[in-house]
Amino acid sequence: MSHVPTAMTQDELKQMVAREAIRYVVDDAYIGVGSGSTANFFIDELAGIKGRIKGAVASSVRTAERLRKHSIPVVELTSVDSLPVYIDGADETTAHGAMIKGGGGALTREKIVAAVAAKYVCIIDQSKLVGVLGNFPLPVEVIPMARSHVAHELVKLGGQPELRTGFTTDNGNVILDVEGFRILNPAELEGRINNIVGVVTNGLFAIRGADVILVGTPAGVTTLDAHRFQPGPSR
Ligand code: 5RP
Repeated sequence: MSHVPTAMTQDELKQMVAREAIRYVVDDAYIGVGSGSTANFFIDELAGIKGRIKGAVASSVRTAERLRKHSIPVVELTSVDSLPVYIDGADETTAHGAMIKGGGGALTREKIVAAVAAKYVCIIDQSKLVGVLGNFPLPVEVIPMARSHVAHELVKLGGQPELRTGFTTDNGNVILDVEGFRILNPAELEGRINNIVGVVTNGLFAIRGADVILVGTPAGVTTLDAHRFQPGPSR
């Protein structure tokens, strides 16, 4: 009997990659958990195996609340010695593991937890896998008093920033969403934007990108090793 994939909703694809991500959970360790709807599906899957882990480090207040609802112990990042794995969604991802994140506004804490983790597993549905980053507006977290200064500097870099209205981050800051970037060198732009005084961080995750990308497609989950194209040391 031939297998014809039936149409799947975006949520079903997110749930499928969330389930697959459980394979990357390390027993008897803490796990870093991201934010957003795909991460929420992961938290719900994690609840089924919570007895295997010590607990979780959350990348946002909402993630911490959802983890606690499932009786998964939540600990501060400062109290863990090591974090073998961080699992999170993204707004856009390249096959090399560079990402735009922050659609949900949790980019700074996500970047901090990701920086500590030994392995970053990105979980996305196929609509998020792109050749070039930039269609999704790039979120930039900004100290409120620096908002106008940062916006002017972003315009100089070729972007069109817009204040995310009615939104305050978990850190008490504002978000500028920047349209108009076609990002050919994500690590370079990440560094340049982070160098603007008043920027807390931006939603480019390229300097520390994903190591593994799980992509949900109607035919199943595709696993991409983000490092497979990178050249080895020259001899
Ligand atoms: C939140 C994020 C999310 O990972 C990103 O916005 C993707 O969200 P979703 O899984 O709901 O599509 O970076 O700050």
